[in-house]
Amino acid sequence: MKFATILGTRPEIIKMAPVLDQMEKMGIDNILIHTGQHYDHEMSQQFFLDLKLKKPEYNIGVGSNSHGKQTAIMLKSIEDVLIAEQPDFIMLQGDTNAVLAGALAGSKLHMAVGHVEAGLRSYDKTMPEEINRQIADICSNIFFVPTEESAVNLLFENINPHEIFITGNTVVDACIRHLKIAEADSNILSELDVSGEILILTIHRAENVNDPERLRNIIEALLELNDITMIFPVHPRTFRALKKFGFYDLLESAPHIKLIKPIGYLDFLLLLSKSKFVMTDSGGLQEEAITLNVPCITLRYNTERPETVTAGGNILVGADKERIIETYHKISSNHTLYKKMSNANNPYGDGKASEKILNSVLKAYNSDKFDIKGSDQIKNHIGKELLRIQDEITVFEYEEMNPGTTINMVFKDSEIKFPHPDLNLKDKNIIVNKFRME
Ligand code: UD1
Ligand code: UDP
Repeated sequence: MKFATILGTRPEIIKMAPVLDQMEKMGIDNILIHTGQHYDHEMSQQFFLDLKLKKPEYNIGVGSNSHGKQTAIMLKSIEDVLIAEQPDFIMLQGDTNAVLAGALAGSKLHMAVGHVEAGLRSYDKTMPEEINRQIADICSNIFFVPTEESAVNLLFENINPHEIFITGNTVVDACIRHLKIAEADSNILSELDVSGEILILTIHRAENVNDPERLRNIIEALLELNDITMIFPVHPRTFRALKKFGFYDLLESAPHIKLIKPIGYLDFLLLLSKSKFVMTDSGGLQEEAITLNVPCITLRYNTERPETVTAGGNILVGADKERIIETYHKISSNHTLYKKMSNANNPYGDGKASEKILNSVLKAYNSDKFDIKGSDQIKNHIGKELLRIQDEITVFEYEEMNPGTTINMVFKDSEIKFPHPDLNLKDKNIIVNKFRME
């Protein structure tokens, strides 16, 4: 079985690293395709070094461009590689333009596509990432979701539960594996010459950074919060915007703010683990913060990681100056709240997501789930039904006894449940999909 893994940006390299390691352990033949969307040493190569990854077989070198042009170039080049290499399975992660291009290219070629971090939804279509993740899920055949909540999102989009695997998030695997190495190898604290309490800060989302008003609100809040040392590794998009709108010098002259270039993963993990707070609009960082027990203040109005908020480890403050300041003071002055946020349960699993993902791929492959079916093999959907189950019966047993039926969702009182095969259906409502049998 031959895999092709497509990645292109910093978070994809980090989150796919444990999966790539696991592939090697399991002796899986994999071609690594880097789209080159991130290309600066500190946004790409540094992570290959830190995470000890092999050099990609292909680098498309797309570079920076408008979204349309960037996606178009990637789509064409990925298609060329896939046609030449004929993989049995394409692996993608997350919600960047690389995922959009890879998922489209693979599905148009009728190749099996697997999406790691499927099912996340903010429902905010002003964000390019939301469009990308929704399209990637439309194009995918097998879905690796971090939590039951993301699995349920997919059920509402009528994805077959048999194609969904709840695995946890590979970011936990990466964190657990690399924090010890970071503690031994990173000298970032002495290099930055910081002591006392620190807050790690990242901003890069287009909707914050490209909008001078939103960016100004955030910057003004940061300038006021001067009772903590802020370490701010500046993303290249943010660097350009800060310079363009004239905010860079303001930040640089603030004694409590340390502007630095983006740093490697080991250095970043170490800083994060020593931080009292995280302030960010990053997706991955919301997950890492709760994994490493650091309270997170998210500079967004919505999140596709709502589990972090319901668990109590993350508060959304948008780009609202007053809310940013108030929330920071509220948490830092209230020891009970601070402890509660630090101790929030990590919803993203036990650090074994990569293993679970690859075991699911092999299971799906061995049960012919990767065969893209022709129209003569696709069963005719004849409708949905809502049923009440009174008997002691599991999801697996019910489907065995009712050929042509798959359970789409299970309701236990007001709670929506994923139909795990061993879930007992007694006294629950279910929605079933019915298919015509030949
Ligand atoms: C991309 C992803 C975003 C992800 C982020 C991770 C999309 C739509 N966006 O956003 O979801 O959270 O990566 O960091 O795919 N630049 C450099 N050097 C580089 C890369 C970029 O200077 O190595 C500059 C260029 O000016 C470029 C800008 O940063 O125009 C933005 O880069 P781009 O890859 O388009 O988007 P990101 O903001 O990085
Ligand atoms: N990160 C890093 N160095 C930095 C900033 C972030 O290694 O200077 C890591 C961070 O640990 C996380 C990932 O980059 O794993 C998040 O990437 P980013 O915020 O760029 O993208 P997002 O997760 O929002 O898509």
